[in-house]
Amino acid sequence: MADRPSEFGHVPVLLERCVELLAPALTRHHPDGSGAVLVDATLGAGGHTERFLTELPGLRVIGLDRDSGALDIARDRLAAFGDRITLVHTRYDGITDALAESGYAAIESVDAILFDLGVSSMQLDRAERGFAYAQDAPLDMRMDSESSLTAADILNTYDEAALASILHRYGEERFARRIAKHIIRQRARAPFATTAELVELLYQAIPAPARRTGGHPAKRTFQALRIAVNDELDSLRDAIPAALDALAVGGRVAVMAYQSLEDRIVKRAFADAVASRTPVDLPMELPGRGPRFRALTRGAERADAAEIERNPRSNPVRLRAVQRVEHESESQRQGTGKGDA
Ligand SMILES: C[S@@+](CC[C@H](N)C(=O)[O-])C[C@H]1O[C@@H](n2cnc3c(N)ncnc32)[C@H](O)[C@@H]1O
Repeated sequence: MADRPSEFGHVPVLLERCVELLAPALTRHHPDGSGAVLVDATLGAGGHTERFLTELPGLRVIGLDRDSGALDIARDRLAAFGDRITLVHTRYDGITDALAESGYAAIESVDAILFDLGVSSMQLDRAERGFAYAQDAPLDMRMDSESSLTAADILNTYDEAALASILHRYGEERFARRIAKHIIRQRARAPFATTAELVELLYQAIPAPARRTGGHPAKRTFQALRIAVNDELDSLRDAIPAALDALAVGGRVAVMAYQSLEDRIVKRAFADAVASRTPVDLPMELPGRGPRFRALTRGAERADAAEIERNPRSNPVRLRAVQRVEHESESQRQGTGKGDA
């Protein structure tokens, strides 16, 4: 089975469903995918991309990842596909430049785009990267080891209000202010260096009754720091509209999110994309002001029990997808059309 663990360490989530959702856009020109381009915006170990390239022997893929280690793994795995795959080391909000580098326009040029958000199993399993609270390691958490800010930098230099805000906004941690206070007190004695030091502090800062509910006490703080270190939400907020713009008419985008903050961004961007631009008080759709996209999923789709059993990392997934149905008129693009006011 394609979604069983492989030598590459990451099991692709909702693989069949992603193929089912995106293949119609990739086979519009030719049944074997010739003439079509898929952007895998989160290439990771290349599991989803390998399946698309295998199933559609004419397809080309542009694979993006901010983690050069992931790109190395994908390069090895996908070597047999030769120049049908182009790898680009970038954040996904750099999709417009990545397309230009690969010879494609930023507007209406690609047939499908896949986002499989978050960290990969390889990133979580490599203890030295500091993503996992269960393993002692340096407080790093950078997805791109060439970027400069680490989790230790945040813990050792941000003021109390900024720390509390990160924990509250990105971790939805109800003891954010209390934890921030403990961090300031602790780092005055010695700066934070390891994940174990942070986990120990969280056991002290979070009251015992609260520790017994709501999962591991470190879960929310680690999520918050990871989001802050990698600027994950801003990156996604910019990437989704750029991806929607890049889709040709008939093109499709699918996004898998694993935590509610990211899923909310996707949900809002898609709700906006499928909304009519005709003023609500008009009885009929104005030409050029109808929805530019249509929803392909009703709400968010989840993994079924069998997949969760085989691959527990699929448990939190929320999949949403839309299809471009209309060109964006010049007045819409420039925001000058009627109804924009
Ligand atoms: C869940 S994994 C993708 C796994 C892949 N679909 C597979 O089947 O092997 C997510 C990947 O997205 C990358 N990533 C996360 N945030 C990113 C961003 N803002 N820009 C580019 N890549 C990002 C991570 O480095 C990671 O390799």
